[in-house]
Amino acid sequence: MNTRYLDITDVGIEFDTNGRKFRALQKVNLKLDKGEFVSLIGHSGCGKSTVLNIVAGLYQATEGGVCLDGKEVCEPGPDRAVVFQNHSLMPWLSVYDNVALAVDQVFRKSKSKAERREWIEHNLRLVNMEHALDKLPGEISGGMKQRVGIARCLAMQPKVLLMDEPFGALDALTRAQLQDSLMTIQSELGNTVIMITHDVDEAVLLSDRIVMMTNGPAATIGEILPVNLPRPRDRLALAEDREFVHLRQQVLEFLYAKQAVREPAAVAVAAVPRPERKPGPLSPASAAVPVSTAGEGPDNDFEAA
Ligand SMILES: Nc1ncnc2c1ncn2[C@@H]1O[C@H](COP(=O)(O)OP(=O)(O)OP(=O)(O)O)[C@@H](O)[C@H]1O
Ligand SMILES: [Mg+2]
Repeated sequence: MNTRYLDITDVGIEFDTNGRKFRALQKVNLKLDKGEFVSLIGHSGCGKSTVLNIVAGLYQATEGGVCLDGKEVCEPGPDRAVVFQNHSLMPWLSVYDNVALAVDQVFRKSKSKAERREWIEHNLRLVNMEHALDKLPGEISGGMKQRVGIARCLAMQPKVLLMDEPFGALDALTRAQLQDSLMTIQSELGNTVIMITHDVDEAVLLSDRIVMMTNGPAATIGEILPVNLPRPRDRLALAEDREFVHLRQQVLEFLYAKQAVREPAAVAVAAVPRPERKPGPLSPASAAVPVSTAGEGPDNDFEAA
């Protein structure tokens, strides 16, 4: 049998809301090698977070299952750390204590108090937050909170890092900085990562493979795009790189041509002039303008279009 480090096999899920069944996913198959960085991209509402929640053990698949390092996933565990869009730090705990909470949970028995302290500080250094150990979440910026959230996850030494639009709430400059930090950390530590994003440039810049999902209901994986750009990757050099531009184009084609969203509302608003769109977030100074639709089905809110 061909087993891989993380093995998502024939996963489907049906939700039951007020007695009505809704099939969100069907036959999702994805296999990751150790150390691989995979992005999930697809229209809003297609089921990306649901896939991540199943891998995290927060949702139980209706069919199929997930195996991590040879062990079936049945419930949440410290071997799968999740970074959410909105940091989810404990507001009453300092930066240090937020990381300590996770470190104590995982290493209370295997590391001494002094070793744990060194480990917490080490992980906060990785994300350049060692200067703010005693600050409360309310006293630091959104980007800094997200850094602490990432440090907390890294400090657990999870087998897989699950990131659900980790930089989605940040401005383009901060997002670019954090993308670079994440690339550096991943090259040093070799983390296995699944990251959900709506940002096409981010997906190409960071990933070894981009997994593109079809629209729901009953969403599945439509195409998988390997990204063989050499590492380390430099955002400025890549902006003009032919292969980068080609990959980006392929993702956009999947989203806007192959999985184009029917927009009943688009006809009605077609006559209203839209603000001019700026270039994608690859160039740090640019801010993508999200487009949300009022139509049925998945929303069309990609960046870098
Ligand atoms: N706990 C739940 N109960 C019922 N339906 C759910 C539940 N979680 C998700 N869904 C439905 O499953 C579908 C996929 O949702 P999901 O949150 O995975 O989408 P997504 O791709 O992450 O969207 P977005 O990009 O907007 O975050 C949606 O139709 C959603 O309403
Ligand atoms: Mg989601």
